[in-house]
Amino acid sequence: MRQTPILQPVSGRPVRVLFVCLGNICRSPSAEGVFRHLVSEAGQDEAFEIDSAGIIGHHEGELPDGRMRAHAARRGYDLTSRSRPIRYEDFFHFDYIIGMDESNRERLLEKAPTAELAEKVSLLTDWAPDAAKDHVPDPYYGGAEGFEHVLDLLEHCLPQLQRQIHP
Ligand code: 4NP
Repeated sequence: MRQTPILQPVSGRPVRVLFVCLGNICRSPSAEGVFRHLVSEAGQDEAFEIDSAGIIGHHEGELPDGRMRAHAARRGYDLTSRSRPIRYEDFFHFDYIIGMDESNRERLLEKAPTAELAEKVSLLTDWAPDAAKDHVPDPYYGGAEGFEHVLDLLEHCLPQLQRQIHP
């Protein structure tokens, strides 16, 4: 008898990727912007749906942090997304829900509606084991070097993610 797989492979529609950090004003909007840039350069705009969200909603509706936007702009990334908290429906809609640090991952696993949907949760650095760090550190309370470090890590990890999840 034919078995129906529990997880259907993604086909015939874009791969849906959601990046998540605490506030959705520094790391995850940058991941969204850098990933959009990579995908666009590769001519893969139609192959991906890309978004970002925060664990908390304190900055809902805001543009990314001005410091993060300035550092990103110097590398050619225009960050224009608006902060929003992660929603229940996101766990059903997105194929990959990608946190920036261990705290993000734990909160995402707590929020996942089912154990099967929790399998969509990963850390960005899981996709690039050779990265300089095993997480993307929160730059919010630090200086300029923290924002540069975020961008260095994103530019290192995201091409590896792109290669692994491209349909
Ligand atoms: P993000 O950085 O999680 O990379 O967006 C933060 C932004 C805001 C806060 C903390 C981290 N906050 O406490 O408001």
